[in-house]
Amino acid sequence: MSESAPAPQWADSSKGLGRWIERLIGIRLLRRPLFFQARQLIIRTAERNGIPWRERRSELREAAAPLLAQSRSEGVILPAYYQARFHAYEQGNLCWQAAAEAEQATDAMALRIWPEEKLAPLQAQMRLRNAIHAVVEPLLSDSIDEVLDLGCSVGVSTQALARWLNHRADQRGLERPRLTGLDLSPEMLAVARVIDRDNLISEWRHAAAEHTALASERFDFISLQFVATSCLNAPPVRCCKKQRVFLSLEVCC
Ligand SMILES: C[S@@+](CC[C@H](N)C(=O)[O-])C[C@H]1O[C@@H](n2cnc3c(N)ncnc32)[C@H](O)[C@@H]1O
Repeated sequence: MSESAPAPQWADSSKGLGRWIERLIGIRLLRRPLFFQARQLIIRTAERNGIPWRERRSELREAAAPLLAQSRSEGVILPAYYQARFHAYEQGNLCWQAAAEAEQATDAMALRIWPEEKLAPLQAQMRLRNAIHAVVEPLLSDSIDEVLDLGCSVGVSTQALARWLNHRADQRGLERPRLTGLDLSPEMLAVARVIDRDNLISEWRHAAAEHTALASERFDFISLQFVATSCLNAPPVRCCKKQRVFLSLEVCC
C-alpha cells in the first residue's frame, strides 16, 4: 500500500471528530468515563445490528478459559507497544475482554464498511474477506501447501483463508493447504481454538512476528490482515523492522 494512501472514511481518526476524540482520551481523568460511554454505544449498536455481543462474550470466555495454558508459549517477548492501552482496553490485546469481544468487533467493523446496506454480520464479513481474497488470488501460484496468518487474533481471517484455499485446492484437485495462525495474545489464541470448531487450522502459534524463528520455515503464502492498526503505538523503527521481517519471509518462500 502506498504511504500516502488516505485511511478509509470509516477508520480515519486523524481529522474532524476523530481527532478531537483522540485528544480527549489522551487526558487520563476523562479516559475511563469516555471509554465506558464509547463501549456502551458500540455494544448497543452492534446488538441492534444483529451481533449478540454480550451473550457471545460470556460464551467464548467460558469455553476458552480452559484452553489458555495450551495457548501460551514460554519465552515469548512482548514488544513495548503491544503492552500499551489499545482501543478501549487498558491491557491492550492481553486480556479476556479483548479476546472474547474480538469476533464481535470484527463483525461490527465489517458492517461499518457498507453502512448504507442492510447486511447481516456474516454477510458483511464474507463480503470483506472475499474482497481481500480476490485481490490476492492473481498473486498466488496454483499449488499452496503452507500458509501463515500473522496477527490472526481469534482466527476470523484464518478461517476465512482456510475455507477459501480449501475450496480453491478442491477445485484444482490438489491437496488442501496447512494453515498456521500466529498471534501474541494467548487469550486471543484460546478463543481462536474455540471458534475453530471444524479444526480447519493446523496450528495456533503463540509468538511475536518480530522475534519468531519463522525465517527458517517455508511458507507459500503469508497473510497479514488488519494488523498494521495494532502497531500504531510502535516506534517507526520497530514497524519498519517488522515489515522487513515480513518481507524477508516472503522472499524466503
Ligand atoms: C485487529 S487484529 C487482526 C485480526 C485478524 N487478522 C483479522 O483480520 O480478523 C490484530 C492482531 O494482531 C496481533 N498482533 C499485533 N502485533 C503483533 C505482533 N508483533 N506479533 C504477533 N501478533 C501481533 C494482535 O494481538 C491482534 O490479535
